[in-house]
Amino acid sequence: MRRKIVAANWKMNLTFPQAKELALRLNTWVKIHKPVAEVFIAPTHLYLEQLNKDLRNSSITVISQNVSAMPDGAYTGDVSAQQLLSVGTKISIVGHSERRAYHHEVNKYIGKKITHLYENGMSPILCVGEKLEDRQAGKHFDVVKEQVSVALERQSNENLRDNLIIAYEPVWAIGTGRNAAPDQAQEMHAFIRKIIGDHHGLQVAHNTTILYGGSVNAGNASDMFDQFDIDGALVGGASLNFDDFTTIISARK
Ligand code: PGA
Repeated sequence: MRRKIVAANWKMNLTFPQAKELALRLNTWVKIHKPVAEVFIAPTHLYLEQLNKDLRNSSITVISQNVSAMPDGAYTGDVSAQQLLSVGTKISIVGHSERRAYHHEVNKYIGKKITHLYENGMSPILCVGEKLEDRQAGKHFDVVKEQVSVALERQSNENLRDNLIIAYEPVWAIGTGRNAAPDQAQEMHAFIRKIIGDHHGLQVAHNTTILYGGSVNAGNASDMFDQFDIDGALVGGASLNFDDFTTIISARK
């Protein structure tokens, strides 16, 4: 089923006391103002265990920003799917453009991460999105098609049907204050749904939740959410501010 999700990607921001305070404040607000909203927060791995405990039985789901492509072993500094699950985390972002850019992650490797998540009964938020030069060269559809199809090529339709979230995040819109126009985003979201339908069948395509990410803020969220194929948002910078993020959650009707 397509879900209406507003997810916060806190990236490498907030000390533990700051993160805890923001998480608890959000939880109280969501309970009162938006009890049926699906709100995710992605803090650093370090805080997952405690925030999962603090937010147990709440309407906020604590998710991971990343997961290893390996199941276990000598991979210093990495965190496996099984380890995330052991502290109560069931969803992980994979393939964020910052991981692709600074850690050279490629589509096949990102696909391995998705495999480990599904093997552990967990699920991914797969981030895709073209760079500015791709769009300027008219290659944005090709780039996104490759990202989606290669990352998902080894996954079963059953796993995808029940548990697939994609975040379309054009790289030129991330952290730049320059979001995609709502119709540009809608066009790409519809295209992503079509690729999934072509490769995995219409049922999977209809069930996939597709979030938009890239300079979503309190002022533009509502126009984004009005688009037919935009199911929610993955929010970076604006998610660190309580007032901005709660305004974005309110906009997701
Ligand atoms: P931004 O980041 O909202 O700061 O552009 C979005 C993201 O990277 O997920």
